[in-house]
Amino acid sequence: MKLVIFGAGGFIGSNLVEHLIEQGVHEVVGVDITSEKLKGIEGPNFKFIEANIGIETDLADELVEASDVVVDLIAYANPSIYVETPLEVVRLNFFENIKILDYCLRHKKRLIQYSTSEVYGKRTGDERYSENSSDLVMGPVQKQRWVYASSKQLLERMIYAHGLEGDLEYSIIRPFNFVGPRFDYLVPSGTKGGPRVFSHFMSALLTGGPIYMVDGGPQHRCFTHIHDANEAFTAILENESGINEIFNIGNPDTNISMRGLAELMQEIYEELTGKKPNNKFIDIDGEEFYGKGYEDMDRVPPNVDKLMALGWKPTRDLDTIFREAIEFYLEPERHAAIL
Ligand code: NAD
Ligand code: UGA
Repeated sequence: MKLVIFGAGGFIGSNLVEHLIEQGVHEVVGVDITSEKLKGIEGPNFKFIEANIGIETDLADELVEASDVVVDLIAYANPSIYVETPLEVVRLNFFENIKILDYCLRHKKRLIQYSTSEVYGKRTGDERYSENSSDLVMGPVQKQRWVYASSKQLLERMIYAHGLEGDLEYSIIRPFNFVGPRFDYLVPSGTKGGPRVFSHFMSALLTGGPIYMVDGGPQHRCFTHIHDANEAFTAILENESGINEIFNIGNPDTNISMRGLAELMQEIYEELTGKKPNNKFIDIDGEEFYGKGYEDMDRVPPNVDKLMALGWKPTRDLDTIFREAIEFYLEPERHAAIL
């Protein structure tokens, strides 16, 4: 198949491109405004085009026309951005994505849309999140953190409605905290806001700076190795039963609190470097760390029965997920800038 991947230069995109090059089965065109994370990722079945899809709309439309399947990864994906610039989040994560949906409708192309586990919203009980039955529970409008999940939810609902109308073939993916090489970016000691949790804890380990425990660190997340995530993508892409369905991609066996994660990362760091971390743990209010309008949430593990019915199963445990991501940033040229 010919795939066009919008957002190919990001964390998930660069890893997905690498995976598809290794497989060598499909032809891939990747589009992004940046190619930094794609450095050294090359193959005969991959071509990169540097473009802003918001500006180069004709090009984006043509690329959709020339493809068999459209993969949409474009979004702001860091909670600090949801709090700082909520309108920008709606503009990119909803309106720009709607344009991609429109190109798919016009040219009758299958759309694989990356949504988020965050659409499930607040935890309401112990039952695992299920794509076809769980409620989606958002916080108040005054907590603008929810603008991300709301934008993604409305996008999902538009896509689903087109599926009902019979004018779109789609698959919706709800990722649960993927982690791996090239995840986000490192930050100087003591930084608040900015990237997602792995990058904060990794930066603290490297600099010896404080580890911030937002609201005390009781919140749970399930983390997913990027390799398992890529395998899940392929299962959905290549399987007829992946069409017109929503899939959680997550590893239910990796559920951990943020305090537990910080301690686990300290242990792995010590094993890999022989240096004993002595970071100070600082409890901090969510709105002080991210800004006014942030609200945190606990999460339960995903139900992945739908994905497993396609023959997929997670293969990497929590230790492997974080060991490989830590190893990536231990390379001196990848962390020199923050020391
Ligand atoms: P990312 O920020 O690393 O990747 C997004 C990419 O989109 C970036 O490379 C960015 O440059 C590109 N982009 C933004 N605006 C663009 C434009 N106008 N034109 C061209 N390219 C543009 O994020 P990610 O972690 O790789 O996430 C990818 C998708 O998966 C997002 O939709 C995100 O919401 C979703 N998601 C990711 C996770 C995760 O665990 N990483 C979890 C849930 C959902
Ligand atoms: C993220 C983003 O919204 C999206 O990328 C994505 O849709 C979603 O995860 C997902 O993977 O499903 P979240 O898990 O809240 O949401 O993002 P992180 O920034 O990684 O935060 C995880 C937890 O760590 C939060 O409870 C946060 O408050 C906490 N945290 C973060 C700390 O305790 N300390 C820090 O230094 C940073």
